[in-house]
Amino acid sequence: MNNTRTITINPISRLEGHGKVTIHLNAEGEVDDARFHITQFRGFEKFCEGRPFEEMTIITQRICGICPVSHQLASAKACDAILGVDIPETAKLLRELIHMGQFIQSHALHFFHLASPDLLLGWDADPAIRNVVGVIDRFPEIARKGIRLRKFGQEIINALGGKKIHPAFAVPGGVINSLSTDHRDTLLNGFKEAYETTHIALDIIKNWLDKNLEQVKQFAAFSSLYAGLVDKDGSPDMYDGQMRIVDQDGSIIKEFDPSDYLKFIGEHVEPWSYLKFPFFKPHGYPDGCYRVGPLGRLNAANGMSTPKAKKEWENYRKLYGNTLGGCSLLYHYTRLIELLNCLEKAEKLLKHDNICSNDIRITANPVNEEGVGIIEAPRGTLIHHYWVDGHGIIKKANLIVATGHNNIAMNRSIQLVAKEYIHKGEVKEGFLNRVEGAIRCYDPCLSCSTHALGQMVLKIQIYNFSGELVQELERK
Ligand code: MG
Ligand code: NI
Repeated sequence: MNNTRTITINPISRLEGHGKVTIHLNAEGEVDDARFHITQFRGFEKFCEGRPFEEMTIITQRICGICPVSHQLASAKACDAILGVDIPETAKLLRELIHMGQFIQSHALHFFHLASPDLLLGWDADPAIRNVVGVIDRFPEIARKGIRLRKFGQEIINALGGKKIHPAFAVPGGVINSLSTDHRDTLLNGFKEAYETTHIALDIIKNWLDKNLEQVKQFAAFSSLYAGLVDKDGSPDMYDGQMRIVDQDGSIIKEFDPSDYLKFIGEHVEPWSYLKFPFFKPHGYPDGCYRVGPLGRLNAANGMSTPKAKKEWENYRKLYGNTLGGCSLLYHYTRLIELLNCLEKAEKLLKHDNICSNDIRITANPVNEEGVGIIEAPRGTLIHHYWVDGHGIIKKANLIVATGHNNIAMNRSIQLVAKEYIHKGEVKEGFLNRVEGAIRCYDPCLSCSTHALGQMVLKIQIYNFSGELVQELERK
C-alpha cells in the first residue's frame, strides 16, 4: 500500500491465547483500517477426517485446553444426532450441570482475573500492577473470593469429569459417570458463598458502568445483530433451543432450528486471517455482523429462566435497553448476569430428583449421515457438524467457534478505538490499554481459534510510509 503507515501490536496481553493487531494509517495519519489477525492454524477440521465418529468427543477436546468441556458437549450432541437418539433424562441433566460448571469457572476467571484489573485499578494504571497480582495486592478479599468462585465451577466439573482439564465425560448417547449423592450434597453447600461473590462482582460492574457512562456510550459502541440459543419462552438456553437473531432494536429477525445454520450463516474469508468471518447470510458481509456470547445472548432474549438473573436482566434492559445494548463494555455486565443464571441453573439441576440416577447412557448404531451439535459456550455459540460414511467414519467436519462468530465485531471494535485514539499519526496515551480492553470485552479464545497457547507480552511496531520499522515499544 502506498502512503500508509502500519502500527503493529503483538501479541495481545491478558487474552486467552495469541493474536496480533495492526493499525493502517492513511497519508494524513488518520486510521484507514484496523485488523485483528489470527496468524496460526492447525487445520483441526481436516484432522478429524477418517476418524470414527464415536472418537470425536475425545479428539475435539484437544482443540482447546481452555474450553474442552464446551467442545466435548457440542461434539456429543452432534454424535447423538448421527445416532438419531434422545439421551436419557439424567444424562442430559448431567451434561447441563458440567456445562454450568464450565460457565461458572470461565466467567469467574474472566471477571476477576482478566477484566477486574481495568475496572478496579483503572485503564491507565501502570501495566506492571494492572493485572491480577495488582488486584490481589490492592483488593485481597475480592481477589480471594474470585479465585474461590472459579474453583467452585471447577469442582462441579471435577465431580462429573473426574479431571479438571479434558474430562472424558460426555459421549455419544449420554455420559460415562453418574453423580454420587455425596458429591451432590457437597456441591450444594457451595452456593451461598457463590451467590454472594457474584453479587459483589455485579456491584463492582454496575457502579463502574454508572460512573463511566459517557465512556461506555463511546467506547467500541456500534449497532449490530445479536445471536443466541433461546428456550421456548425466549430465555437464553445454554444447551439447547432455537437459534435467534435480533437486530439492534431487539426485533426478532430470524429464529431457526440450529441444524439449519448453513442456510443462515455464511463464512467470509480474508487473506490476512486464518479465522473466518461468519455473517448472517440474508444481510450479507459485513452488514450481517452479529455478536454472540453474553451480550448476544442477553440482547437476543426476552427474559431469563431463573429469578435472581431475571431481576438483573430487567435492570440491564431498563438502564441500557436496546439503544445502549451495542456498547461493548456491557459484555462485562451481561457476563455476570449469566454467571448468576448459571449458578441458579446448577443449583436447580443438583436438586432434581433424578440427578443421581444411573440411567445415563444408551447405545445405538448410526442411522444418519450427518449430525449438528450446537451449544452456547461461555464465549458464544459453538457449532460442531459432522458428515459420516456408512461405517460411521468422518468424511467431513465443520466447526464454528464462538470467537469466529465475533470476528467481524472484534475488528469493528478495534477500528472504533483506533479512530478515537489516533489522529494525524499521533497515538494518544492509553491507546494500547483500550485496544486490549476492547478485545477483552469479547473474551476471545484464541486457543480455540488457533489451537495454540501464546505468551502474554505486548509489542508495538510503528512503520513509516515506506514500510520501514521506525519505532518499537515493548512491555512485559
Ligand atoms: Mg470452521
Ligand atoms: Ni477455547
